[in-house]
Amino acid sequence: MLPDPGRLAAAAAQHFIAIARRAIRKRGRFAAALAGGSTPRGTYQALADSRQSEAVEWSRVQVFWGDERCVPPDRPESNYRMARETLLDHVPIPTDNVHRIQGELAPERAAVSYQAALREFFTAPGIAPRPPRFDLILLGMGADGHAASLFPGTRALQEEKRWVVAQYVEKLDRWRISLTLPVLNAAANVIFLVSGSEKAEALREALAPDGSPELPARMVNPANGELLWLVDAEAAALLRD
Ligand code: 6PG
Repeated sequence: MLPDPGRLAAAAAQHFIAIARRAIRKRGRFAAALAGGSTPRGTYQALADSRQSEAVEWSRVQVFWGDERCVPPDRPESNYRMARETLLDHVPIPTDNVHRIQGELAPERAAVSYQAALREFFTAPGIAPRPPRFDLILLGMGADGHAASLFPGTRALQEEKRWVVAQYVEKLDRWRISLTLPVLNAAANVIFLVSGSEKAEALREALAPDGSPELPARMVNPANGELLWLVDAEAAALLRD
């Protein structure tokens, strides 16, 4: 637990850099899926700070997204736009290394197109496709316990084959594109960034032994990877010890 959002962002940036450097040392590249929403802003700004960003060989970084709103990339709600403004415009990452979800397309087409991009990047020719193994997936969590755009009680949570789904989110009256649990749970590292008192109940549900198993955030548990929760004091207020 970190005392405040600023320290949470700094810690998340340090973990990002450490995982990136390790992946680049081992495999010559680092593939990350970025989170959307507002919480990660601080982390991306910390990463963009030159004293930090110089620690990463950005030409070897490949950036994807965990989910996207079905809007064009220049709209304020776009997760791509948020990451571009806070991070990608401030580091020397080659354009070809940025693999955004095309929120401007019809939802189903956006999902199919993104899955094809994942397959092209992660699956060697002639090899049977398996869920992409990201070096790092950053996730936020909604006050209802959703992760990426996997919302409680939705069919997307049951998806076992597709890596990407288009999901109409009733409560938001919006379409979203999201990675599915097979991909989230194939990652080498997943880091949840959770900040603010409005997340305290969902965080308790997600982490407490008696928490609800239907909570999407609780269903993220990499089979062969590390799961780290970076939370601030307000979000952790209901956690015992
Ligand atoms: C999105 C995110 C979503 C987000 C949570 C938390 O597209 O909005 O992917 O899953 O992480 O809703 O959002 P905040 O960080 O804004 O609280």
